[in-house]
Amino acid sequence: MTEQTPRATAFPTSLLEEADGEGRNPTANPTMGEIISTRFSRRGLLKGSLAVSAIAATVSPLALVTADKAKAASSAFSFTEVEAGVDANHHVAPGYDADILLRWGDPLFPDAPAFDPRNQSAEAQRRQFGYNNDYVGYIPLDGSPTHGLLVVNHEYTNEHLMFPGIVQVVDGKAKIAPADQKRVDIEMAAHGGTIVEIRKVDGKWQVVRDGRYNRRITSATPMELTGPAAGHDRVKTSDDPTGTKVIGTVNNCAGGVTPWGTYVMAEENFHGYFAGKLPEGHAEAANYKRYGVPESTYQWANFYDRFDIAKEPHEPNRFGWIVEVDPMDPNSTPKKRTALGRFKHEGAESIVAKDGRVVFYLGDDERFDYVYKFVTAGRFDPNNRAANMNLLDEGTLYVAKFAPDGTLTWLPVVHGQGPLTAANGFNSQADVLIETRRAGDLLGATKMDRPEDIQPNHVNGKVYVMLTNNTRRTADQVDTANPRAKNAFGHIIEIAEDGGDFAATTGRWEVLLKCGDPSVAAVGASFSTETTKNGWFGMPDNCAVDSAGRLWVSTDGNSPKDTGRTDGLWAVDTEGEARATSKLFYRVPVGAEMCGPLFTPDDETAFVAVQHPGDGGEDWEGFARPSYYEDLSTRWPDFKDDMPVRPSVVAITKQGGGKIAV
Ligand code: FEO
Ligand code: CA
Ligand code: CA
Repeated sequence: MTEQTPRATAFPTSLLEEADGEGRNPTANPTMGEIISTRFSRRGLLKGSLAVSAIAATVSPLALVTADKAKAASSAFSFTEVEAGVDANHHVAPGYDADILLRWGDPLFPDAPAFDPRNQSAEAQRRQFGYNNDYVGYIPLDGSPTHGLLVVNHEYTNEHLMFPGIVQVVDGKAKIAPADQKRVDIEMAAHGGTIVEIRKVDGKWQVVRDGRYNRRITSATPMELTGPAAGHDRVKTSDDPTGTKVIGTVNNCAGGVTPWGTYVMAEENFHGYFAGKLPEGHAEAANYKRYGVPESTYQWANFYDRFDIAKEPHEPNRFGWIVEVDPMDPNSTPKKRTALGRFKHEGAESIVAKDGRVVFYLGDDERFDYVYKFVTAGRFDPNNRAANMNLLDEGTLYVAKFAPDGTLTWLPVVHGQGPLTAANGFNSQADVLIETRRAGDLLGATKMDRPEDIQPNHVNGKVYVMLTNNTRRTADQVDTANPRAKNAFGHIIEIAEDGGDFAATTGRWEVLLKCGDPSVAAVGASFSTETTKNGWFGMPDNCAVDSAGRLWVSTDGNSPKDTGRTDGLWAVDTEGEARATSKLFYRVPVGAEMCGPLFTPDDETAFVAVQHPGDGGEDWEGFARPSYYEDLSTRWPDFKDDMPVRPSVVAITKQGGGKIAV
């Protein structure tokens, strides 16, 4: 979800965007702000400049040019860059096709109605592709790279873009009409996830509409709460005295596919769905404050008591979890796995450690919040899928402490250890998990610049942490892991776990990349000198590692105003001389955010998710007006039907076939 420098928008971007990343960490925990930076000290910088001067003094200009060429040749990517810029269409590198596979409203079942935005209903939306596609995963059927299940999160809804005629401009200000129950039910049906069979035929992907696994998950799908917090008094409600049965999931941002082939959905900004006021002196008041509950972004509480905390004060404790879905059983009940903690979960990418335990990397996307990982207690059994199905109920959650000397410590978020005791209000592991953030505060975790997607790399053994931005970090809060004040463009940290063991509790870290325009000295970006004016980016959000171990980064927040370019997918070198070189492979229409990305196991397709195209797009004359698709073809002469003007999953393939970017 977009959250960065507020846009000067005439139309309301989602209020959640304003809320996302508010920064609700009240502690004086180490931003390491008081610690003087040692790793990137002035002395180190001086040494670096002296080294450059020394080279300049002794090496001829011709030799430098030759060296530059060699450096360029060492890039792991061989495609011609797209030109960065802004317009209403998407663009992919020459020699590639970018084909829309699925758009919001596309029918997913043989009996699903065709998309008709003027006559939308919740019933239709439940049978159609949801809104704002974010995470994209691929689960092969019979091991095939050309036939499988696409699993897609639908993070949130933009009512002003979805519902024709609900926005009115009064005295220059846009106002959205209050929601009625019909609209709320459509919104709830447009949230959640999609599981859909897809197949590649003659080089092009198709949706298999009668696929037996096709399924929509929504904010009204019954789910089960499992793990240490399940059944605890703090998750019981009047509708669910057992504390184990939850209705729906919300704000599913990034996610993952587990080694055993289940789909995990991260519940991110759950605070926005709640409204009302807790009863005076309620025991959850401090807990909810730490999470920003209630934000009252949506009007669901007007029609469903469970979103009104005055009526159901425990309901928010049933959101903010990782949800696991078995896609091979369309009737299975999704499970909210409480062992992985409760926060504004961004993603849940995983990898099998040396000893067979499975490690999940987790970000809490808010300014000054934390990086986590979860290590299962049990071991992955590649020959027995059923034996893996509850691995996520038992294990250890850790929160990260990044030290100035480049070491990383994973601190166990475990009841009874350190400060996580009854003296601090934690009477059980359930208490610790329900208030994961406060546990992290007490443990002294490092406050980060909005942790988004975190990706382990199975080839080089490293882990990549996207930190999207944090403009509220002040100069005295700067630390080595978050090295810029008013960090508008974000950065990427590379972790090397000790002994190359993803389950290790210690490791080392360094900043791979400080993002932003490297030609503006004050920005302090650190792209390699090989990076062109098209190649730099700001606001890293999602990422993927392809089969060859190469890193791809998608962004959220580049705009005409902020960076003079739209969001997109960039290829980032991590190895050798080309390290920190970035190249633009694909870019989205104005107003959109770039989600996904995901490579098929044969690296021949990259799936990307174009989220909220046209949102804030009033910067581009004629493109974004509520509701922008409504009469776009008549108002906007350049409109073409193959443009992703609705949230869309796009399949990128090489013309004539073959692996991408090699
Ligand atoms: Fe939904 Fe943190 O992006
Ligand atoms: Ca995101
Ligand atoms: Ca990812």
